[in-house]
Amino acid sequence: MHKSHTSGELRRDHIGQTVKLAGWVNRRRDHGGLIFIDLRDRWGVTQVVSDPESAAAAHELLNTVRNEFVLQVTGVVRERPEGQTNENLSTGEIELVATDVKILNASKTPPFEINEDSNVDEKVRLKYRYLDLRRERMRRNLVLRSEVTTYIRNYLANEGFIEVETPILFKTTPEGARDYLVPSRVHPGKFYALPQSPQQLKQMLMVAGVEKYFQIARCFRDEDQRGDRQPEFTQLDMEMSFVERDDVTQLLEDLMTNMIEEVCDKPIMQKPWPRITYADAMDRFGEDRPDLRFEMYLKDVTAICRDTGFKVFDGAPMVKGINAEGCGATYSRKQIDALTKFVQQHGAKGLAWLRIDEDGYKSSFAKFLSEEKIGEMVAALDGKPGDLLLFIADKAEVANDVLARLRKRFGVELGLADPNVLACCWVIDFPMFMWNEDETRWDPSHHLFTSPMPDSIPLLDTDPGAAVGSQYDMVINGYETAGGSIRIHNRALQEKVFKLIGLEDDVAQERFGHMLEAFEYGTPPHGGIAPGIDRLVMLLAGEPNIREVIAFPKSQQATDIMAGAPSVVEDHQLVELHVGILDEDE
Ligand code: AMO
Ligand code: AMP
Repeated sequence: MHKSHTSGELRRDHIGQTVKLAGWVNRRRDHGGLIFIDLRDRWGVTQVVSDPESAAAAHELLNTVRNEFVLQVTGVVRERPEGQTNENLSTGEIELVATDVKILNASKTPPFEINEDSNVDEKVRLKYRYLDLRRERMRRNLVLRSEVTTYIRNYLANEGFIEVETPILFKTTPEGARDYLVPSRVHPGKFYALPQSPQQLKQMLMVAGVEKYFQIARCFRDEDQRGDRQPEFTQLDMEMSFVERDDVTQLLEDLMTNMIEEVCDKPIMQKPWPRITYADAMDRFGEDRPDLRFEMYLKDVTAICRDTGFKVFDGAPMVKGINAEGCGATYSRKQIDALTKFVQQHGAKGLAWLRIDEDGYKSSFAKFLSEEKIGEMVAALDGKPGDLLLFIADKAEVANDVLARLRKRFGVELGLADPNVLACCWVIDFPMFMWNEDETRWDPSHHLFTSPMPDSIPLLDTDPGAAVGSQYDMVINGYETAGGSIRIHNRALQEKVFKLIGLEDDVAQERFGHMLEAFEYGTPPHGGIAPGIDRLVMLLAGEPNIREVIAFPKSQQATDIMAGAPSVVEDHQLVELHVGILDEDE
């Protein structure tokens, strides 16, 4: 080894010992004769000091080094002089007096400072990701991520789970995104699909009698990028046999609670986690991934708004509102106009607002309504002087979606969503299907292998829209962090669901015939779940997007900026793969 200790390790106990450190020059300071180097490695920083009197050669060399040079320093540990200790540093009580220094490698001047958390353009960070990852914040995130997956592996091994790897070159496993396809060289015109999740394979493992499976699994989805989405991402993928819904949610809740309390100092707001039905979530929060860190519940005032004579409210299928408490007193017209623009950008026709003053109202719509109706609306939203009430009249989907966005915006703008707590909950009792207007058919609200709840099975024949699915989602601070369900394990029921969602028999057979066949060989009842590791670590680390917790993420344009992927390939490779490239305008 080039080092005897790490740069985060030396304490008072080591005083007087001769040690060897190796790492990067984090910072170099020249102090009238003495040179100080902060020597950094993955574990921390140790101050190295050189004295021209006692170690002239070492001093001479340290005079020439620059930030990010790689050094090996041999020296004697000594107590820092009075007044020089640094409480912010784990090694802050000691320093290393260099007796011998070797430059193991030089470094060009990095394109950004490694030793400070300055704002650097993300493109530059991604191009030089190997330097970006040297920075303290990224180092912390990498370590946290490793602690999360290590904890999970140990916990599940203890619970009798085994980790099984499943193929990446496979067949379409739809989770609602486009597939990434890989052309086959040996089978002209045929393609592998990269799995959007190991869903089919983990169900096959249940048929195979594995009973308790997990995998830290890579998933591939070609979909529009967002802060919480990447084309390839990681799931803790799990499946169990002979379980019901509450067995899966309980196991995961215990695992997550223990893990979070071990690796993260943010408290969990409520234990056990609240369980919220889909209908309740839509009613109070307007979305199925509610942020429970604050209230500001949506209130349905449709009934109050009937027959008011105000056409905007009268004609709308739904009128719903929220109370931005205190904002009546503090929000300017300009700020309200900005809110109006915001809701319009998200599909609302307008924003009806009402400011409650001590002696009356100021409002964009009050003049169209009777005093009595306004009073009822204010009462429904618990409005008091100083509050700002905001209403959206529209189809339920739009009113809910827009108010949910407004609510989350206020959560940040008004500081209601405490970044230092984790509000975990379960959302359950999802409808089995969602109606797809464009294609005039049912879509599965989770995926096509999800079972209806037992009492909903007869509804598949009579009223599929009313059927409740066995899906459960784990939500943290407004992010969907895991989704799962109890599965169908019976061929006839699986075929019925395929039919309902419009899969023709021959297509279902071609795509999923192997599953239908497997279901005829003694398939146990089973279910599972898959937390997204990237989103989970992002929330634990308090990062704003998942790129910050992935070593080598894709950019928002789905490219790898460091290596330059995707890239063009040689013509002969395309020929071998039987692939031709269409001209742009073909
Ligand atoms: P689902 O599609 O809900 O379920 O995905 C599970 C979790 O994976 C994370 N996730 C993502 N993270 C980053 N980038 C993405 N593009 C992305 N897409 C999803 C989310 C999500 O909650 N096979 C089922 C699980 C099951 O039924 O057991 C599945 O994949 O955190
Ligand atoms: P109008 O009579 O269309 O000028 O609307 C009167 C008020 O209602 C204005 O403040 C509009 O911004 C608001 N408004 C219009 N359409 C809607 C809507 N769909 N939902 C909520 N408020 C609206």
